[in-house]
Formats: sequence, structure tokens, C-alpha cells
Amino acid sequence: MILAIETSCDDTCAAVVGHRGEIHSNEIASQGLLHERYGGVVPEIASRRHLELVDAVVADALEDAGAALDDVDSVAVTRGPGLIGALLVGLSSAKALAAARRLPLVPVDHLHGHVVASTLGPDPIEPPYVCLVASGGHTFVARVDDPASYAILGQTLDDAAGEAFDKGARILGLGYPGGPAIDRLAREGDPRAFGFPRSLPKGGEDSGGLDFSFSGLKTSLLYRARDLGERESERRRADLAASYQAAIVDSLTTRLGEAIEREGVRNVALGGGVAANSALRAAAASLCERLGTRLWTPARELCTDNAAMIGAAARFSPQVAYPGYLALDASARLG
Ligand code: KG4
Ligand code: ZN
Repeated sequence: MILAIETSCDDTCAAVVGHRGEIHSNEIASQGLLHERYGGVVPEIASRRHLELVDAVVADALEDAGAALDDVDSVAVTRGPGLIGALLVGLSSAKALAAARRLPLVPVDHLHGHVVASTLGPDPIEPPYVCLVASGGHTFVARVDDPASYAILGQTLDDAAGEAFDKGARILGLGYPGGPAIDRLAREGDPRAFGFPRSLPKGGEDSGGLDFSFSGLKTSLLYRARDLGERESERRRADLAASYQAAIVDSLTTRLGEAIEREGVRNVALGGGVAANSALRAAAASLCERLGTRLWTPARELCTDNAAMIGAAARFSPQVAYPGYLALDASARLG
């Protein structure tokens, strides 16, 4: 069994995953409430909290799996990208756990985790597949021929989709994190009430032509809310949320559709926190039905940050033998 640890942002996560992708446990201690009053993640507070929580979360993951450290044959950990102080807490814990038993360590790229989340469980996705990863820090479409790696076909040129949700929610006075709040409120609104721009940038020469851009959209919401005035934008908040969400979802599924057609694959996956969004899940499902492809939408807790997906990526990543990993550094910008 693989013991996996993930602390790249504001969730302290540990999981026990089998070598065939079985999820024996998947623990997530969310720090959401701690950062809410600041309107976003405060890196120093996140690292301190990881330090307080990580041992207990690892113990819980083992207990939940009905396992002991003796049953673990490797320790996987997110090496980056993410908040450097937060990453260091997970990496140091993983090193200590592995070194104490002379186990190998598997350093994992957080985004690789999002890309292979659909290889977990009883019905794993098989390559080749196209994957849309939309999270708080990253947004891209990638092709996977071998789950050991992924080739990016297009990515955001400015804000990530999750960032667009979070910034939009702040403009609408919905608090942090914004994605789930917009998702909820949008259910009561009309997605066609307001026309927000669907930006589909051509990108540079080597971009592959499937890039995204979300910064103009956020500005457009800001101006629209300002034009409506405080009372009116408050009254029409659900319509604003639904229309804004529709613009993000449209851009994401347009590029996903183009990638599927261009790459000619039959299998498609979603990943990243924004893949927990109900409108995106529904739109991607109808897109794939129309194109005759099969879609894997991981359970919501496997879309947002979690350690099971780090264990999944570890199955396809090189191990570093003891004591080679003791000098390994975390990396805020990996790749
Ligand atoms: O993958 P993730 O948990 O962390 C990063 O790697 O960034 O993604 C977090 C992002 C946040 O921006 C959050 O607002 C967004 O995912 N998110 C959602 C939903 N749940 C989380 N966005 C839209 N709808 C949701 N239901
Ligand atoms: Zn993530």
C-alpha cells in the first residue's frame, strides 16, 4: 500500500491507496473556515495549521484503512506546485515517515495527481484520454497516452477557472471559497440573464491553439455589478452568478470539445476543484454524449485537493530510494 500526503495549499490530506488504484482511505482536514475571514488563503497561517494537523491526519488515514505503517511500502508526497511553506510541511513529514522505515519516497507533481484522479477506483480510465484540469491555481487541457505523464494542449494565459470563481464570488459578496457558493446560488438564477464574454484566445505559436483566458470575464462582472448599482445587483445576484458561471463553463467545455475532436480519443476525464461544479459536470456530460465519448467525472472529494490522487500519481511515478530523498526540496513552481 502507498501512504500519500498532500499539503500544497489549504487542505491537510493523507490517504492510503493500493497498487491497483484501490482507495483504502482518503482524509481531508479543510482549513477553509480559518482563511475565510481574510477572503483567501494566508500562506503562513496555512503552513502553521498543516504542521498542527498533519500527524493526526496521517494517523486517521492509516486507521481508516485498517492499516499500520508496517503495511505501507512507499510514501508519496506532493512536491509542488503550491505554497512553499505548506509543501515543506508535507514533504518533511513524508521524509520522516519514510526514513524511519527505510521506505522509498515518491515525489509527486500535484497537477499529475489531478490528471490521474480518474484512474482510481473500480472503473479506472484507460489511456489514451483527454483531461480538463481546472483548479484554483491552474487550468489546462492535456492528452494522456501513458499515465506516467501528460502533454498540455492548451492552458490559461491569465487567471485559472477556480480563481475566476473565487474573484467573481468576492465581487458578488459571497465569501471564500467562491466556487461552491456560486455553484449553489446559480441554481436559483437564469444563466441567460446576462451576456458575459466567452474568451477563447488564439494564444502564441507554440500554444496548441487551445488556451483559456478568464481575467476579462471577471472585469466584465465587476462593471456589470457596478452599472446595476448595489440594490439591483443584490436583487439579481442569482442571475449574475448563473450567467457568470455559464461563461466559465462554456469556455471550458468549448476547449475540451475541440481537444477531444482534434486528438480523436474516446475517453475523457475532468479533474481539479472546479470539476466539482455541477454546471460543468452536466455540460461536460452532454458534450461527451454528443461526441460519442465516455466521460470520467471523479467524485467531488477526488476533484478538490486530496491525497488519494497523489497516491494515484505515485503508482506511475519513479520512486527515490532511502536515503536519496533526504535532500529533496519542495518546489513552488514545478514543471
Ligand atoms: O483543486 P483545488 O481544490 O485546489 C487547487 O489545486 O487550486 O481547487 C480549488 C478551486 C477553488 O478556486 C474553488 O473555488 C474551486 O476549486 N471549486 C469550485 C467548486 N468547488 C471548488 N468551483 C466551482 N464550483 C464548485 N462546486
Ligand atoms: Zn489542486
